Amino acid sequence: MAAENLFDLTGRVAVVTGSAAKGGIGHAIALGLARAGANVVSSDIDEPRARTTAQEVEALGRQSTCVACDVSKPDDILGLFAEVDRVFGRIDILVNNAGIGSHAHPEDLSLDEWRRVIDVNATGSFMCAQQAARRMIREGVGGSIINISSIAGSTALGRGNFVYSVAKGAINQMTRELAVEWAHHGIRVNAIQPCQIRTRALQELITDPQFSSTKLVERFLSGIPMNRLGEPEDLVGPVVFLASDASKFVTGVMLPVDGGNLALNAGGSHTWPQE
Ligand SMILES: NC(=O)c1ccc[n+]([C@@H]2O[C@H](COP(=O)([O-])OP(=O)(O)OC[C@H]3O[C@@H](n4cnc5c(N)ncnc54)[C@H](O)[C@@H]3O)[C@@H](O)[C@H]2O)c1
Repeated sequence: MAAENLFDLTGRVAVVTGSAAKGGIGHAIALGLARAGANVVSSDIDEPRARTTAQEVEALGRQSTCVACDVSKPDDILGLFAEVDRVFGRIDILVNNAGIGSHAHPEDLSLDEWRRVIDVNATGSFMCAQQAARRMIREGVGGSIINISSIAGSTALGRGNFVYSVAKGAINQMTRELAVEWAHHGIRVNAIQPCQIRTRALQELITDPQFSSTKLVERFLSGIPMNRLGEPEDLVGPVVFLASDASKFVTGVMLPVDGGNLALNAGGSHTWPQE
């Protein structure tokens, strides 16, 4: 196969959760998959903005539909996949992107907040993966499931990110287990571990009055050897790679998209003492 065709997703059907058009990672991924040729189902709790994403996908010449879906609600997930069946009758790519953060000292964290964060990030990702895999197994053509994890899935972030880190750690282990369980069906399951990505949500965190924004950005950058925050667009190439035949023998990996953050956390500092 010619190298230029390896990343071609023409005719494939992708579902991206949390892909409303509001400056987030899922929105960039949905449009990136469409630019690579895929038809895209845009889903989010924010239906009007999920519809905007679907319209943007159609403007790129691909088919699309949008579905209101709260991934913490099993019935919403069934509704999402019923719509996938109705409109496309197949699914080739699932991007489990919907996720929420949480900031609380572990000693103060309520059980309700623990459950909310685990439900949206981990349980929602599993339920979507299960629905997608059942269809991929039935069709017998395999597929690609991509879980948007975080550097927090492998390293501790501190700063009250406790339950978020636990949820992303669960996503990493779920990725490995499902990759092994579904390999013989031709279903590849991989995760991406972004560092801090400059989404509208991150921007809100940076400007939250409970933090010093300069110190927070400095703290982020001190962990990123490439010395910049990520942009949502930085996720597109890695997702297209994992969705496409370019990665057809790649499964069960955690791919950092982090400017070197996880490499740095293996030890040491990226600046010399005199710098
Ligand atoms: N931005 C970062 O710095 C960063 C870093 C590492 C990992 N991530 C992960 O990337 C993913 C996307 O994050 P983002 O920064 O783009 O966030 P975001 O808040 O900008 O976007 C998240 C989207 O998910 C939707 N959403 C929220 N709860 C939902 C639910 N219960 N069901 C369905 N949709 C829901 C929101 O409406 C929004 O459109 C998340 O899984 C997040 O944990 C983000």
